[in-house]
Amino acid sequence: MPDLTAITPHDPPRKLRPLSLGATLIVAALCALAMIWLNESTHRRITAALQSIQQLHSTRTTINGLARALLEAESSQRGYIITGDREYLTPYNAALAETERLLKDLTAQAPAAMAESDAMTSFVSLLSQKIGEMALTVRMREEERPEVVNFVVTSNVGLQQMRAFQAQGNALRALAQSLVQTKRAEIYRLLNVSRFGLAAGVLAAFLAFFLYVNQIRATRRADAQQQALLEAERDALESQVRERTSRLTELATHLQQAVEDERAHLARELHDEMGALLTAAKLDVARLKSRIPPGADDFTDRLQHLTETLNQGIALKRRIIEDLRPSSLTNLGLVASLEILCREFADRAALQVDTALEPVDLDPASELTIYRVVQEALTNIGKYAQAKKVMVTLKNYVYHAEVSVSDDGIGFDPSRLPQASHGLVGMQHRIEASGGRLDINAARGRGSRITGTIPRRAAKPQSALADAMATMSVSAQSYAMPPEAPTEAAAPG
Ligand SMILES: Nc1ncnc2c1ncn2[C@@H]1O[C@H](COP(=O)(O)OP(=O)(O)O)[C@@H](O)[C@H]1O
Ligand SMILES: [Mg+2]
Repeated sequence: MPDLTAITPHDPPRKLRPLSLGATLIVAALCALAMIWLNESTHRRITAALQSIQQLHSTRTTINGLARALLEAESSQRGYIITGDREYLTPYNAALAETERLLKDLTAQAPAAMAESDAMTSFVSLLSQKIGEMALTVRMREEERPEVVNFVVTSNVGLQQMRAFQAQGNALRALAQSLVQTKRAEIYRLLNVSRFGLAAGVLAAFLAFFLYVNQIRATRRADAQQQALLEAERDALESQVRERTSRLTELATHLQQAVEDERAHLARELHDEMGALLTAAKLDVARLKSRIPPGADDFTDRLQHLTETLNQGIALKRRIIEDLRPSSLTNLGLVASLEILCREFADRAALQVDTALEPVDLDPASELTIYRVVQEALTNIGKYAQAKKVMVTLKNYVYHAEVSVSDDGIGFDPSRLPQASHGLVGMQHRIEASGGRLDINAARGRGSRITGTIPRRAAKPQSALADAMATMSVSAQSYAMPPEAPTEAAAPG
């Protein structure tokens, strides 16, 4: 028998271990989450880097604006110092106000890396010095102190301060530029991270899907394997059942045959031995009768009584023999035997039994089967049916003969027969052993009808039954014995 425990739904795979549906879903969800997180975080960082670049550009523009405003303030300051024309003070003050505003913007805009740098500190301090220097000279010019003014104009302090301021401005711009480069590089790096992350996520999802498909295939393979094993086991069980059924059928056939043989044997013994004894006794009585002296009436009466008793014994013997094995079947044929059977049953059970019997052409074994079926059906009617009318028919068809016994009694449910009842089952077995079929048509309150169909040229019996059939016909022939009547007729009285 196949070993079911050997089935493993997950065969050890050669390559990748397959994933279950749950694991696949978890992996797919994790991939999706990782991709969303990666995308979000790179997006945030790229946005921040772009903002920083924007800030650096603004810072550079502010630095340029500061340089321009300071140049404008210086040229207005120079104009005022040289000419004393107060008209110059208007653009000068406007340029200073612009410088102040731009300086505030610069402090607000500059990113930390720039705001905290030395270049920024020097830039702001140089700007303050320059503004201070310009304010000082303007005040001196207002106070009419030409020596100081001359010193300022002729010396190149202002120029040096301006150059230092511009140099610091350039350094700041260079710093901003390098910071822009750094941010750009960061953006490229983040874009690459995002790209590779996305590709890795998609690959992981594909891998999970592949493992899942693998799992489904493995499960299907295991299912098919299990199915095949179950089918193999079912087939094995079925063939075991078939084999046992056929053995039981053989056994039942053998037992039925043995019963028939035993009955035939008993009938023969009764006929030969008992028949001979009874006949001898009758002959003796006849002889004694002829030698009775006249006047011995009492003796004559007793001998007469003995003769009657012997006759009853012979009749009883004949009935028993007939019951054991219907000699009429061999001597008179099936139709006559059935008629006798039905008539005797009608007398015994006080029922109306109608018959419609056609002569049929069957082998002796099949005739005996039909006789036994009718016998058992009539017995059942007598025992259970409470019927008033019974109908027995025998029909001859081209390929089969059909016997049926029906009654108008209380009926029964054929699907709920008592456990220990063997009559109907025996009938069915007998008929099936002859290659035929038994139909039981009955219902509670609606009488019953039992129909047996037997093939006329018996379909080749299964090998196991062939011998049984052969033995049956032999025994049926061996039962053919001479009728009793002549023997008894020979007997005097
Ligand atoms: N003609 C019938 N009318 C009513 N009941 C019947 C008839 N034939 C059979 N049965 C029922 O079917 C049962 C089975 O019959 P059978 O197989 O011959 O077994 P048994 O005669 O040993 O009880 C009977 O016990 C009886 O209840
Ligand atoms: Mg019965």
